[in-house]
Amino acid sequence: MMRALPQASASELWRWLCALARARLASDTAQGVVSVRVVGEGAQVSAGEHADAALIASGGELRVQRTLDTDAARLFEQYAPLCATGGKRLVVAHLGQSLDGRIGPPSGKPEAITGPEDVRHNHRMRALFDVVLVGAGTVCHDDPQLTVRHVEGQNPVRVVLDPDRRLSDEYALFHDGLAPTVLLCRAEQARPGELHGQAEVIGVKGGCSPEAVLAELEGRGLRRIFIEGGGVTVSRFLAARCLDRLQLAVSPLIMGQGRPGIDLGETLRLRPRVRRFQLAEDILFECCF
Ligand SMILES: NC(=O)c1ccc[n+]([C@@H]2O[C@H](COP(=O)([O-])OP(=O)(O)OC[C@H]3O[C@@H](n4cnc5c(N)ncnc54)[C@H](OP(=O)(O)O)[C@@H]3O)[C@@H](O)[C@H]2O)c1
Repeated sequence: MMRALPQASASELWRWLCALARARLASDTAQGVVSVRVVGEGAQVSAGEHADAALIASGGELRVQRTLDTDAARLFEQYAPLCATGGKRLVVAHLGQSLDGRIGPPSGKPEAITGPEDVRHNHRMRALFDVVLVGAGTVCHDDPQLTVRHVEGQNPVRVVLDPDRRLSDEYALFHDGLAPTVLLCRAEQARPGELHGQAEVIGVKGGCSPEAVLAELEGRGLRRIFIEGGGVTVSRFLAARCLDRLQLAVSPLIMGQGRPGIDLGETLRLRPRVRRFQLAEDILFECCF
């Protein structure tokens, strides 16, 4: 008699989700079927439905073939919809904000607004995406590493959007060699083959508009884009209707003043479908457009 497999743990499920999310699928796979099979400690993704698969992605749905323990089930609920997109482009932005919509103090100095669970969530998002993208303001104030450190997973390509080249190359991510790094600027600001520290400089035709930035990245096979701030950058992508999802992690904190999160400079009443997740004291609202 065959022995039933034990319940899958959160770390097993996480490996399968990462393998699926980061597999280089053709852009027309979205409606096809893809299986994730367990191979030793890792996971392998292949086309078609396989009886021994742990996960099967089919037409935007993700089916799990093993029973999951409680933590794994929670991870599956939160992250499966972000993984079962086939080769289609997916653009998700995140901001951690106070109850009154601030993402940092007035000085711009780095300050944790949300708690460690949201930090882990950000690292999970990095691991599930091809690219983590930030605006020049975030690099200038935070000097972030943008690597995956708090969870298991691979570092994405780090992309800094600095249209007018106002950043020097002194920031850590331009020379730490921890992950491939790209500086995107206006086409007229870039010379062919130029480096900024160790980062590749890419000039974007079309004035660095969100659409032009996404087209440039997609042309390089980078279709899963996670935008991690700051407020100006996320607001521009939202205003240009370039986000598939916007995640706002709200901390039970009132700051009174500070750097604004979403600011579109116009009155708008968007009421998207929202998924909610409790991250310890914070609540993550995921808006699905
Ligand atoms: N709580 C959080 O989740 C979080 C996350 C990240 C950062 N932060 C905080 O937020 C602050 C920085 O955010 P921020 O809103 O001031 O700056 P930001 O969004 O990081 O960067 C803004 C700059 O990026 C460039 N840019 C971005 N998108 C562009 C586009 N589509 N087209 C042209 N230019 C574009 C512009 O540079 P130019 O002006 O040179 O054209 C713009 O001024 C810091 O205080 C940081 O600590 C908080």
